[in-house]
Amino acid sequence: MANDAKPRFYELPLQERSKTLREQTGLTETEMDALTGLSGLTPAAADKMVENAVGVFSLPIGIAQNFLVNGREVWVPMVVEEPSVIAGASFMAKLARAGGGFFSTTDEPRMIGQMQILDLDDPVSAQLKLLEHKQELLSEAAQIDPILQQLGGGPRDLDVHLIEDSPIGAFLVLHLIMDVRDAMGANAVNTACERLAPQVEAISGGRVHLRILSNLADQRLARARVTIPTETLSFDEYDGNQVRDRIIEAWAFAAVDPYRAATHNKGIMNGVDAVVIATGNDWRAVEAGAHAYAARSGRYTSLSTWGHGADGSLTGSLEMPMAVGIIGGATRVHPGAKAAVKLLGVQTARELAGIIAAVGLAQNLAALRALATEGIQRGHMSLHARQVAAAAGAEGDTIDLVARQLVQEKTVRSDRAVEILKELKN
Ligand code: MEV
Repeated sequence: MANDAKPRFYELPLQERSKTLREQTGLTETEMDALTGLSGLTPAAADKMVENAVGVFSLPIGIAQNFLVNGREVWVPMVVEEPSVIAGASFMAKLARAGGGFFSTTDEPRMIGQMQILDLDDPVSAQLKLLEHKQELLSEAAQIDPILQQLGGGPRDLDVHLIEDSPIGAFLVLHLIMDVRDAMGANAVNTACERLAPQVEAISGGRVHLRILSNLADQRLARARVTIPTETLSFDEYDGNQVRDRIIEAWAFAAVDPYRAATHNKGIMNGVDAVVIATGNDWRAVEAGAHAYAARSGRYTSLSTWGHGADGSLTGSLEMPMAVGIIGGATRVHPGAKAAVKLLGVQTARELAGIIAAVGLAQNLAALRALATEGIQRGHMSLHARQVAAAAGAEGDTIDLVARQLVQEKTVRSDRAVEILKELKN
């Protein structure tokens, strides 16, 4: 399956796009209906997911095109309300193909569970005692989830950190590292921490207070890299070398300035979250992990890096925690999420994590390329103009006529849309 075979997917009418997707990906009609929202999550199913449910809330889902990740063609489902995100990712994925697409790697799916141990007379001795009982604690933790154990996951390591100075004095923090295989892992880790707590209390002589997963999943990183030959970067009056250098200058701003880094990383998360949501994963967890990781040096910085390759190409990379699963939680109960995972063709949570990192990097490149050249507004303008035209009362084909004129005049304002609409009617 080559996405290239359908380069003008975006030009097809909505129904035709769904048909193409179905033909090219082998999704069943039921899966397509779930993905596109014709069926999908019912209020009855929602009632089993959250309290006081009153129904379900929809967002647009689109497919990013042209993604080649580790040599494999991928159709990327993205759930996002913001215009230009899906187009930006698709376009950058197209440029990336000249350099072989995106290459991603991921860590083993290791999550960290934390236990806060208070009321210790001698925190240092308690720390040593816990470390002396490390194997015993790990064996005990392994009994807690036999299924995870059978699947090749389970506890992997245990650390004990001494917090010497806090508003309540010294205490210990035990980190239980667990391989959660294809789950996001919050349930497995939280259960293990809660079940292990009495034994930790018995060994340490303290009181285990909090027992909870850490969203700073820095042992479960996903990385993506891309190389873009400079000739691919040239457009309009911009020469490829110039675009490359301007992108690197834009990245340098985010590398040193937290105000810019927050926005730069938000651009990465535009892509990351859209796939995380489409696959029914916990985007708050991924967001929390991303920003905590971006601040790991003590100063918040860019999650991505851009530079020159040996041959002058633009090279980019992204590294961030990626706690996503393909089993359990909403990934299991949301029919649209299940269809999205099938569409992505991933067999493991790690594969999914690698693709998401690639999409984040593509999204970052789309934003930097626009910001470093013509500015972000031009790309936004045509979709925005359509929204303005519709809000001014245009319908059907007239929406495009009004929008086109607004863009041509570079005046995307509702008063002008009303005027154009009147002129067209006359
Ligand atoms: C907008 O959603 C995202 C950008 O602000 C990202 C960036 O500035 O890098 C365009």
